[in-house]
Amino acid sequence: MSAGSHQSYQSYLRLPQLLAQQVPLSRPAVHGELLFIVVHQTHELWFKSLLHDLAAIRDALLDGRPWPARDLFWRVHRVTELLIEQVTILESLPHREFLLLRDALGQASGLQSAQFRELETLSGGRRAGAGPSVWDAYLALVGARGLPVDGRLPDSLDEIEASPDVFPDLCGLAQDLRRHDELWITWRQRHLLMAEGFIGAVPGTGGTGGTAFLASRAAHRYYPLLWRTPSCLAAAHE
Ligand code: HEM
Repeated sequence: MSAGSHQSYQSYLRLPQLLAQQVPLSRPAVHGELLFIVVHQTHELWFKSLLHDLAAIRDALLDGRPWPARDLFWRVHRVTELLIEQVTILESLPHREFLLLRDALGQASGLQSAQFRELETLSGGRRAGAGPSVWDAYLALVGARGLPVDGRLPDSLDEIEASPDVFPDLCGLAQDLRRHDELWITWRQRHLLMAEGFIGAVPGTGGTGGTAFLASRAAHRYYPLLWRTPSCLAAAHE
């Protein structure tokens, strides 16, 4: 008998537990608070799935297997596009309702999302975490192909870009990395504009200056070296 034979849709997905986790706190009740919670919680679920896939991308690259990594990048891009759209859905929250539910938030802020930070670290977009990032793993692959990755890394990247026929997988992966970077810049820009619509110039609940902080974050690049030349990486726009 297989392990799953006693499962139902409800039990396999743990729906009773999952659907008990959306608990609006505002009193009197604010209609849009459920949407506010669902958009945040689904972000965290997708963050979990993205971390799972990015770790597999990193491991495939460290293993010298670029193609499974490229397949998974396709999925990672689609999920990130979905999250960019999800931010937009929150713009349908009436401003009046946002002000009412803001009291219930207290100090809570997306700034405290541990999975968001982990996504940046695992991608290689912030200072090293515990293990190698996706960017570290890409550089290991570049090194394994005999191209220098020390101070001459920019030259190696130029060579990869100039000779996609010689390094099709390295060039394709550079496109994936740049697309990944670009999609997260887009998420941060979309989040900034959405937040600005709600809070204008007042500080965020997490204690930062609010939109000024978010604007500085939106300008950040995970992989600045991949933004020097348009050349073959322009194909990342599809
Ligand atoms: C009405 C909706 C929202 C507003 C007004 C808003 C506002 C803000 C503000 C002002 C900050 C800066 C930190 C602070 O001082 O609080 C911030 C950070 C952040 N928010 Fe939101 N946010 C909203 C929705 C969301 C959603 C749906 C997510 C999804 C998880 C999210 C994720 C984040 C993350 C990850 C950060 C840290 C960004 C970084 O460090 O680059 N926010 N938000």
